[in-house]
Amino acid sequence: MSQSLPNSTSQLIDRYGRRVDYVRISVTDRCDFRCVYCMSENMEFLPRAQILTLEEIETVARAFVELGVGKIRITGGEPLVRRGVPDLLRVIGRLDGLRELTLTTNGSQLENCAEELRAAGVRRINISLDTLDAGRFRALTRVGDLGRVLRGIDAALAAGFERVKLNAVILKHRNHDEVTDLVAFAKAKGLDISFIEEMPLGVVDGHDRAEQYYSSDDIRRDLERVYHLVPCAATSGGPARYFEVAGSSMRVGFISPHSHNFCGSCNRVRLTAEGRLLLCLGNEHSVDLKRVLRAHPGDAARLKAAIVDAMAIKPERHYFDLQGQPVIFRHMSATGG
Ligand code: GTP
Ligand code: 5AD
Ligand code: SF4
Repeated sequence: MSQSLPNSTSQLIDRYGRRVDYVRISVTDRCDFRCVYCMSENMEFLPRAQILTLEEIETVARAFVELGVGKIRITGGEPLVRRGVPDLLRVIGRLDGLRELTLTTNGSQLENCAEELRAAGVRRINISLDTLDAGRFRALTRVGDLGRVLRGIDAALAAGFERVKLNAVILKHRNHDEVTDLVAFAKAKGLDISFIEEMPLGVVDGHDRAEQYYSSDDIRRDLERVYHLVPCAATSGGPARYFEVAGSSMRVGFISPHSHNFCGSCNRVRLTAEGRLLLCLGNEHSVDLKRVLRAHPGDAARLKAAIVDAMAIKPERHYFDLQGQPVIFRHMSATGG
């Protein structure tokens, strides 16, 4: 991992002097899971005509790379439920100037396509895994099959990605007692792991976010009963604070939107599946790039100008509050985290 900000040649700079050199692209709002912290049980998904075509996504990715963006992460929903995504990755992976192409997935389809993704140029991959207990996994995802995801993780390891990282959202009384087991699992497999504090995005049912809050400091305290965690200078340019488990090369990250704000060094923007350029995960400031794409097909200069102009409305920071109803009605699945 490298510090992405100082080396960046991105032309995208916001009002606070932050250089944006990382774009997260959600290719679908659909998913084959229904994780309790992410979705409601019954979700309405976008009709096909409202989401960007794969060609439109490629056009936007190209515009960003030409503006100096060096890193693209493909997300969803679950990106691999959309047909044609491995081909899209291959095309984006070849863009001149792109330093890193990564993917965040729930792992359900990896058994079948890990090798194809690696061959398409994806170097690192993040896989969500909140628990090692099949019953709990089913309860947290509402429909998911743990065995299938574990086979997907093995397939990713066999395919030879440079780093495979697990993401675990930790909730009190759901999986907080598993943090040391998750680290042991990751260590044994040669994976990194990040623990994530839940964010209040979208209305979810059957789950009280305030009651189930478990902070990164709580997790770290639990881990330090078993592991010696050494603070690590390395950063992916993302919000995670990393530690190395002493005696191994394994990294444990903490993504702590509530307890340790990281907005001051934010280097990223997001493209939603419907083509909205979202300037911050925790705010609604956005620009409709689909409108630009469809009103002016083939006009790369106009698209790039819209992206450059959008930097002026990137908010300073997010304000998340777990009490009461969320102020952001957009679900995480619409944005890809
Ligand atoms: P890197 O690309 O290596 O930095 O990975 P990452 O850990 O940022 O990506 P991943 O897709 O695995 O996301 C892990 C978690 O971090 C998700 O829950 C994201 O929602 C959260 N996250 C990523 N970026 C941001 C951000 O800018 N703000 C907030 N609040 N959360 C973020
Ligand atoms: N808060 C925090 N993380 C979330 N994720 C999904 N919804 C939420 C939420 N409300 C996580 C997933 C996945 C990553 C992309 O985002 O578990 O690991
Ligand atoms: Fe799907 Fe990921 Fe949301 Fe779970 S967190 S429902 S796997 S998009």
